[in-house]
This record gives sequence, C-alpha cells and structure tokens, in this order.
Amino acid sequence: MKTIRVALIGYGRSGRNIHRSLMSQLPEKYQIAAFVDLDAQRRALIRRENGVEALPDYRDLFGRRDIDLVVNASYSFDHARISADLLRHGFNVLSEKPAARDADEFASTLRAARESGSRYFVFQQYRFAPAYRRIREVVESGKLGRIIQFTFTFDSFARRWDWQTVHGFNAGNLHNMGPHPLDWALDMMGFPEDVSVFCAMDRAHFFGDGEDFVKLFLRAPGAPLGEIEVSASYAYGKNTYELQGTRGCLTGTDVGLKWQYYRDEEAPVQRLDTRSMRAADATPVYGLETLPIHEESWQPTGYEVDAFNAKGLNCYNALYETLTEGRPFLIRNEEIMLQMRVTEEAYRQNAALFR
Ligand SMILES: NC(=O)c1ccc[n+]([C@@H]2O[C@H](COP(=O)([O-])OP(=O)(O)OC[C@H]3O[C@@H](n4cnc5c(N)ncnc54)[C@H](O)[C@@H]3O)[C@@H](O)[C@H]2O)c1
Repeated sequence: MKTIRVALIGYGRSGRNIHRSLMSQLPEKYQIAAFVDLDAQRRALIRRENGVEALPDYRDLFGRRDIDLVVNASYSFDHARISADLLRHGFNVLSEKPAARDADEFASTLRAARESGSRYFVFQQYRFAPAYRRIREVVESGKLGRIIQFTFTFDSFARRWDWQTVHGFNAGNLHNMGPHPLDWALDMMGFPEDVSVFCAMDRAHFFGDGEDFVKLFLRAPGAPLGEIEVSASYAYGKNTYELQGTRGCLTGTDVGLKWQYYRDEEAPVQRLDTRSMRAADATPVYGLETLPIHEESWQPTGYEVDAFNAKGLNCYNALYETLTEGRPFLIRNEEIMLQMRVTEEAYRQNAALFR
C-alpha cells in the first residue's frame, strides 16, 4: 500500500486541527513529511507536537522529490498564488477553500496545473458529509418527487474579530463558510452554467469590514430554487438542510435527518372541483383528505457520529483512491470555477458594503 508523503503548509485551525488530525487517522495512506509555517511560534508548536523542525517558507520545498502532495492551508488571500507556484514547481496540491479570490485567479491556477502536468484539488470536504450524501440518495430515489427548493443554513450567534472578518483577506462569511453550502447548492442544481444569483449581505457584529450575514438565492432553468443563509446573528438553530419537493420534504442536520412523502398510487383520488368546497350535506369545509404519509429518518452511526471528522476522512479516503488508483475526484475544478463566478457576482451585488 503506497503511503502519500505530504507537505503541510499552515499549522492553524485548518492545517493542525483538520488536516494533520485527519492524516493521523489514516497513517497507512498519508504521512506528513514536512511542515511549513511562517509564524515562529507555530513552528515551535510543530516542534513540540511532532518532534520535527518546520520550514519557514514553502519555497524551501522546491527541489524535493520525496513529496507526493502539498496541502495548502495558508491564509485565504494567498491560496491561489502559493498553489500556482507549487504546481509550476511540479508539486501536486490540495488547496483549502476558497481556492482563489475570484474566477480569474482560479483560472490562472488551473493554467499552472495544466502547463506543469501537476494535479490540483480543492478541499471541499462538506460534499463528503454523511448527511449530505444521504440527502443525495433520498433525492435520487425520487421519493420526494421533483425538488422545488432547498435551503442550506449555517447560522450562529457570535462575534468574531480575527482575519476571517476582513474582506481584503478574502474572508467574510461568504468566502469563509460560504464555499460549503454553495458547493452543495450548485451540486443539487447540477452545476448549471446559466445560474442567476441574488445576494444580500450585511454586517452586524464582526470586527472587520467583512460581511457576517449572507442571504443568497440561486436560480437556473430546470433546477430547484436554491437558498443559502450564513449568518452570525441567529441563535435559535434552524436546521442545516431543508428540501421541498413535489411529493415530499426533508429536514435535518448532520446529526439526523427526517423526510416524509406520499405516493400518488396510494393517495385518495381527487378531481379539480371549483365549486365552494362542501361536505356531503353542503356545509362549507376545507380540503378533507388523509394523505398516506411515509416518514423515514437517518442518523449517523459508527465513525460518522463525529460528523465534522467524518466528512474530512471521507474526503481524504477519496483523494487517496484518486492519487493511487486514478479514480476521478468527486470535486471537479470546473465546479469550483462555477462557485468562483457565483461568489464574484454575489460580492459585485454588495460592493457598497465594502467601500
Ligand atoms: N475546510 C474547512 O472546513 C476549513 C476550516 C477552517 C479553515 N479553513 C481554511 O483554511 C485556511 C486557514 O485557516 P485557519 O483557520 O487555519 O487560519 P489560522 O490563522 O488558524 O492558521 C493559518 C496558519 O497558516 C500559516 N500561514 C499563513 N500563510 C502562510 C504561508 N504563506 N506560509 C506558511 N505558513 C503560512 C499561519 O502562520 C498560521 O499558522 C483558510 O483558507 C480557511 O478558510 C477551512
């Protein structure tokens, strides 16, 4: 079994708490061969926790032939520049989201991959979330009928004062949290090129100039209406996932889903009747029928109970198959490009917030 030798750039919440933690759970598949962090305190932490000297500059990796993959968990504004530089120097790269500032920057990173022949992946691990995968199965089963609309909600009630609140850092809630529900949304819609975007942003109590409230609608011919909310101003826990279909609906979070639907063949036969609605004795009534409703549910089991960890593990396992067996990676770069274009348009519509 081949072990993928990884260089990890950035030892922060993502690099340390997500990527290092995930790879440490898959020791036969991944081994961290080099750590990079420009912050001296973080390099000291790497030394304490891993017993190795970290590099201060990712360019110190250039020329090394023992690295199969570089994980780019640096600051969001630097992802594309660093990824492109690494790709041009012959490294395969897994970039944290958001992969670039905009579509142009992403296109130039894709060009670097194409020209060098190196492989470039974006870490959108929420696509691998067990709850989301289950939702896709329910939708594909047809039980809910045609999906009319879905809402994906990432709400919290919290102030924030770090770099992730600063627009110029390629941050704010759409750049930071947004790539996850946006990826689901475009996936649910079949990644339509002709998608139209309506987005309202606001700032409530983040300390930087980035948005902490995002409401985004997506529409495309033949696709369900998509709604995304990412807010730092709502404490009462709306469900993450809500779907409405022509025969059923679904709601839930990563710790459990439920859905209900009826089957046409079991429903009472009705015909359109435009007279004032009445019972047999002519008394006025509202629609009287009992639809035979089927209700089903899902709860994570085993390793999926830790939902955040599970989606990352699923992603790393899938990437391993891509790297070693040539399986196509679930997250395609054309899909990320569409996400970039939608994000760009959403910020364009809210430019006044950042003046
Ligand atoms: N996919 C997810 O679920 C998820 C979760 C958290 C963060 N992220 C993403 O990960 C990235 C990092 O976020 P974070 O929360 O870990 O930030 P952080 O501030 O906690 O850590 C960033 C680390 O990267 C280091 N760094 C930055 N630029 C560097 C460079 N050029 N070379 C070497 N080291 C560098 C910093 O010194 C710091 O230690 C962001 O793009 C963020 O959006 C993704």
